[in-house]
Amino acid sequence: MCGIVGYIGYKEAFPVLMNGLRRLEYRGYDSAGCALISQDGKLNVYKAKGKVADLEQEALGQDVSGTLGMSHTRWATHGEPSAVNAHPHISQSGRLALVHNGIIENYVSIRESLIKKGYEFKSETDTEVLVQLIEYIKNTYRTSLLKAVRIALTKVIGAYAIVVVDQDHPHEMVAARKSSPLVIGIGEENKEFFLASDATPIMEYTRKVVYVNDEEVVLMKRGEEIKIVNLANDNVNPEIQQIEADMGVVEKDGYPHFMLKEIFSQPDCVRECMRGRILAKEKRIVLSAIVNHKELLVNASRIIIVACGTSWHAGLIGKQLIEQMCRIPVDVEYASEFRYRNPVINKGDVVIAISQSGETADTLAAIGLARSMGATVFGIVNAVGSSIARATDTGTYIHVGPEIGVASTKAFTGQVTVLTLFALALGREKGTLSREEYEEIVAELYQIPDKMQKVLESASHIEELSKPYTYVRNFIYLGRGFNYPVALEGALKLKEISYIHAEGYPAAEMKHGPIALIDSEMPVVCIALHHQLYQKVLSNIQEVKARNGKIIALVTEGDDTVSKIADSVITIPATLSCLSPLLSCIPLQLLAYYVAVRRGLNVDQPRNLAKSVTVE
Ligand code: AGP
Ligand code: GLU
Repeated sequence: MCGIVGYIGYKEAFPVLMNGLRRLEYRGYDSAGCALISQDGKLNVYKAKGKVADLEQEALGQDVSGTLGMSHTRWATHGEPSAVNAHPHISQSGRLALVHNGIIENYVSIRESLIKKGYEFKSETDTEVLVQLIEYIKNTYRTSLLKAVRIALTKVIGAYAIVVVDQDHPHEMVAARKSSPLVIGIGEENKEFFLASDATPIMEYTRKVVYVNDEEVVLMKRGEEIKIVNLANDNVNPEIQQIEADMGVVEKDGYPHFMLKEIFSQPDCVRECMRGRILAKEKRIVLSAIVNHKELLVNASRIIIVACGTSWHAGLIGKQLIEQMCRIPVDVEYASEFRYRNPVINKGDVVIAISQSGETADTLAAIGLARSMGATVFGIVNAVGSSIARATDTGTYIHVGPEIGVASTKAFTGQVTVLTLFALALGREKGTLSREEYEEIVAELYQIPDKMQKVLESASHIEELSKPYTYVRNFIYLGRGFNYPVALEGALKLKEISYIHAEGYPAAEMKHGPIALIDSEMPVVCIALHHQLYQKVLSNIQEVKARNGKIIALVTEGDDTVSKIADSVITIPATLSCLSPLLSCIPLQLLAYYVAVRRGLNVDQPRNLAKSVTVE
């Protein structure tokens, strides 16, 4: 997982690289580096532990001239974050430089065989074997850089997006990919090429892009057309696409953090997500993916949802929505487990893949597996044109705009909204949802953004009530039914950004073990809304109270029972049980946010994480 930016053309490369890298910092930010070939043909490499700003500091006053260069912002998989382990890595002769996104799984054996041939290694990374192997092949067979890269990649097991430059060939740049994303931007006709892990760093220069496919190697040469070959050395015709979406610079708009801005944007995001899909007057939903695949979906014998992290939590809510409204059994799987489990996929099964970034390696692999076994895959994705959006048979974008904060918030509510629209539309098509129920839910869903707005009005109350919990070591989150996944998501949010250990449980499960943890030091967030299981959750709250746990309760407006028992209370407007996660998740996002801010942590870029997990 990392961000790569490259440039070859007639402009000074360094500003292009740094601007681009800053936009890709969401992909990793533990160290950064760049390599440039200067006008006098020298390869200059700068690296620093930390963020892109640290790299710029490192390069200050140094020679950063040159119209060919590449850069990398890292999320370490092999070897601690340090300047030595940062990319680019340099070959033994000092003439080749390489950046890499991914994991080379057989790096140990390649490294050992190169050591026997006299190669020395400076870093602890898996990546360094690539640059040495390419140099070894280039020298041994006296080949071009393109050919050496291609041959080297046939010996590699794993995932990669790489860029290689050679001091001896200052007019060319070679790149390749397998399982990690890579986009080439075609600038002025044959005069310049841009290259990046996603299109955002490229958009301000050109809209003409080529998405590199797996096992393709690309040669970009000044003054020549882009050349692509596959690993078997067959020529591949570059498919040039025009990107329409405007990916202008995303600003914080006065908020102290992107995460807070994104939490507050949720009413608008959900409105945007429903736009054109809910026909309010007719109380009807139109989802093109369902219209276009009606037969398949109506007759689906089972649905399997694959996703990771927060998207997996949205999937758990999706399961309940689809089972309740469509009466189709739904399994929700971690993509990372599904892909290696030799899963049973029968004719008539439909797979739904959920991903904000559209680049999550495990989800992408799960899709590949499902499709190879004959399943139709439906994608629920935010990033337009991303790998998952392109790898699925059909799907629905959540349209909530770029999510910058590493902790997912608005994408979660967007995903739950699309799953709700999906279940409603399919339930109606199938006839498993009566017209009255359907219209009632559609009408209420339409009101949800306004109710979200009301929930956000309690932000300062949540900020205040969170104060005593700033330095606690553990948290428990309890919920039931539709709000059990919300408890999991609330706990994940807190863990991710405050580094406080937190666990979510179905409330009734607590007595089967976790209850042993409860004492006067343990805050327990209880989601106790006025729905079917309210009385049951009330008993669970009493059990916590009886053991002196600190109760933070999330209740429906007008509740006066829980308020008497709980230490702190947050109220949300009444809504239907199946739509309540769209409201109940917001106070939990805010709680995590305020605790993390008070602990002085980097909320938007928490330690050890990255926005897009493109390695498995
Ligand atoms: C969410 O807060 C996380 N950072 C993480 O769990 C994320 O949801 C997961 O990595 C899946 O990402 P995706 O939706 O981009 O596939
Ligand atoms: N595996 C490489 C490393 O640890 C690349 C990681 C990445 O994709 O950032 O350096």
